[in-house]
Amino acid sequence: TFRPFSQVSSQSQRPSFGIAFDIDGVLLLGNTPIGGSPSALKRLYQESGDLKIPYVFLTNGKLFRGGFRESKRASELSKLLALYIVITMQVVQGHSPFKQLVNRFENELIVAVGKGESAAVMTEYGFKNVLSIDEYASYFDNIDPLAHYKKWTIKHAANQNITSKEMASRIYSQRVQAAFIVSDPVDWSRDIQVLCDILRAGGLPGRETGHQPHLYFANDDLEYQATFPIERLGMGAFRIALESIFNRIHPKALEYTSFGKPNPSVFQNAETVLKQLVSSLHPSAHDVNHATPRSHLFKTLYMVGDNPSVDINGARQAGRPWFSILTRTGVFKGKENHAKFPADLVIDTVEEAVDYILRKEV
Ligand code: G3P
Ligand code: MG
Repeated sequence: TFRPFSQVSSQSQRPSFGIAFDIDGVLLLGNTPIGGSPSALKRLYQESGDLKIPYVFLTNGKLFRGGFRESKRASELSKLLALYIVITMQVVQGHSPFKQLVNRFENELIVAVGKGESAAVMTEYGFKNVLSIDEYASYFDNIDPLAHYKKWTIKHAANQNITSKEMASRIYSQRVQAAFIVSDPVDWSRDIQVLCDILRAGGLPGRETGHQPHLYFANDDLEYQATFPIERLGMGAFRIALESIFNRIHPKALEYTSFGKPNPSVFQNAETVLKQLVSSLHPSAHDVNHATPRSHLFKTLYMVGDNPSVDINGARQAGRPWFSILTRTGVFKGKENHAKFPADLVIDTVEEAVDYILRKEV
């Protein structure tokens, strides 16, 4: 079995700290590393390339091509940041908690929305009856009256076992039980239209009414920092647009659940992952017998983020042992601390953050 760490040290040397890095606006802008991120992260490895300090990527996104499965994101990240190795477990994304809903919707028809491989993400999580909203919409003639003005074409998923006619009859008779916004929607007008159709008609567009199917968002970020100098509208902005329109055309208010930071559960999950990393690094007798290490306690967990209302707010709500560090490379560009969600420390770059942490802890 693959071991991410060199297992030479004893349990007594277990690190009493761990780090969670936000990605957009801290490590990368679009595809470009920022704030000295490659050299900062390199300091968390031994010369041999083994991981030395437990750390995770704690992102709400979707970055560059977005909607990627954790495994793919891990290898993309190690290339972009020139790291020795990033293991799948270290990548915690906004849509990661969707995995926990597999039992509920395993065989139900669900629709996945957003750029990148949103349907493939859900299939990899174990959902068995997933369609991207692109494919779903393509079975309904004229569902998008603006489609003729759009230059892109829709690819049908290559499902060899089922003809397009069989698929169409399945779609017309099966209710969509849930829609998952996995990554940022590309075609807002079409997606808002089709989601309204699904949600107000009980999962069978154009047919009848019924209970609103479930609706899940991977995050609720109003804005995030990409390559353009001013923040870009995120999934939270799409949620506001969908919700405002839905509530105008339907008598019952839209019901939905948003995951991602700043929910405290995201930080609890990151802590669990960091504990698992520590027990790979320093296995104890307890870890040999138990899959989930419960005994290890961190004195400090650092959250390095750029967005006060998301990263810093989340770390503050999660409470001890989280310690928040706000960089100036992304959404936050202020001189002083943020007024509403002040961080424990404000510095310029992730490189300075890692320097601060290692000077304090090592
Ligand atoms: O949708 C916003 C997302 O891109 C933010 O990503 O890495 O800053 O949490 P991150
Ligand atoms: Mg960010």
